[in-house]
Amino acid sequence: MIGDVERILYTEEQINIICDELADKIRRDYSGRELIFVCMLKGSVLFFSDLVRKVGLPCRLEFMEVSSYGSGTVSTGKINIRKDIGCDIAGKDVLIVEDIVDTGNTLFYIKEYLEGRSPASVKICTLFDKPVRRQKPVYADYSGSVVDDQFIVGFGLDYDERYRYLPYVGVLRPEVYSS
Ligand code: IMP
Ligand code: MG
Repeated sequence: MIGDVERILYTEEQINIICDELADKIRRDYSGRELIFVCMLKGSVLFFSDLVRKVGLPCRLEFMEVSSYGSGTVSTGKINIRKDIGCDIAGKDVLIVEDIVDTGNTLFYIKEYLEGRSPASVKICTLFDKPVRRQKPVYADYSGSVVDDQFIVGFGLDYDERYRYLPYVGVLRPEVYSS
């Protein structure tokens, strides 16, 4: 464990089990359909690459990047699309893959945005969910694990672009972001 992490919340093995469980559900629900996975860059990239391989259904992979956080630990609430998906989703089943749903501001906006393009469905799969901090009514159709109101890093999740590479998820020492 690196020094900036106060304690490990999910080991690599635990994350792997969570991903297996999510993938099993998704495979059951989407078999025989035309599925488009949308990776929310950058936070969900490690989760996304594990998930799509574990689901194992024929699918299309798309990428979207939005900004709302800056370098702080609290969402600014203002969503800016930096990179959009590159295909027509009309009539298709879309599954948004996110690292963590916090205030819900990001996915509330993005889900409506994608729904505006006449897909057959838009659902949300998130690895982590912080429901106590929700400001917008966002419901994750697939949710890996609920976390308390604490700032976590690793397995794609960052603080100021750091710690994404960690294979585990841990709680960041408050000194790191208060200094
Ligand atoms: P929301 O719009 O407040 O739901 O924020 C969602 C985004 O905030 C996620 O995709 C993450 O990038 C980021 N985020 C929220 N909580 C955390 C955290 O505990 N650690 C790292 N990133 C977080
Ligand atoms: Mg993110």
